[in-house]
Amino acid sequence: MTESEIRARLTTRILGKKIYVFDSVDSTNSRAKTLALEGAAEGTLVITDDQTAGRGRQGTPWFSEKGKNLTFSIILDPAIPPTRLGILSLCAGLAVAEAIQNMTGLPTECKWPNDVLLNARKVSGILSETVVRQGNILALVVGIGINVNQSTFMQELEDRATSLCLAAGTTIDRLQLLSQVVDRLEFWYEKMLSEEYEVILKEWSGFCKMIGRTISVNYQGIQLSGFAHGIAEDGCLLFQTNGREMKLSAGDVTIIQQ
Ligand code: BTN
Repeated sequence: MTESEIRARLTTRILGKKIYVFDSVDSTNSRAKTLALEGAAEGTLVITDDQTAGRGRQGTPWFSEKGKNLTFSIILDPAIPPTRLGILSLCAGLAVAEAIQNMTGLPTECKWPNDVLLNARKVSGILSETVVRQGNILALVVGIGINVNQSTFMQELEDRATSLCLAAGTTIDRLQLLSQVVDRLEFWYEKMLSEEYEVILKEWSGFCKMIGRTISVNYQGIQLSGFAHGIAEDGCLLFQTNGREMKLSAGDVTIIQQ
């Protein structure tokens, strides 16, 4: 993938204004954070075909076979209160789910807080991070990993992960997918900037099977069973257990069973 190939496909106004393509990089999120600290503009896209130390949420690694998938990060600078930042990850999940569905016709699912599933297996993960300088949030980095044309996974991921190619039975054009994800992300990002949170939440919930169902969560080491009845405007999961209302943030929850 080259910068000009990517640029030729993008139709966005803000996202991808500046593009950095690395042959190999430890993590596009880490590199994007460094670039943001150095003054990179909003919309800067950082992408690689070979991520050597990809990072997932809660300190987990993100593995991606070289040259087969999409691993990229985008620098954003939304003028919104920090309490609304959770919704940005929902926008990213929604953008990925829509792009995959539009391109393959396969039904995608968003799993709170920000996984995208195909056939109940994870096909994409999102890692949103803040870039902080002297206690102030300078920018946000949204990192997206999508398993596109990878056809085998290491043993411990084998029964939890999938790729578009495995699910669709055909090779997928990565550039086309990238352009669609970036396009949908800009669409939802603009909705977020205009504070249309309800529209985002409604659309996201349409992709989520968990809302309106009984689920089990692991909350601070305790397993709780309860009813997931919605997503709050800050992106938290609204959960009711034993008559008690709880608002769970991503860090608190592992969904055990749906
Ligand atoms: C998760 O599901 O745990 C989140 C995975 C996020 C992976 C992407 S790949 C591009 C970007 N760079 C990283 O190091 N991580 C994110």
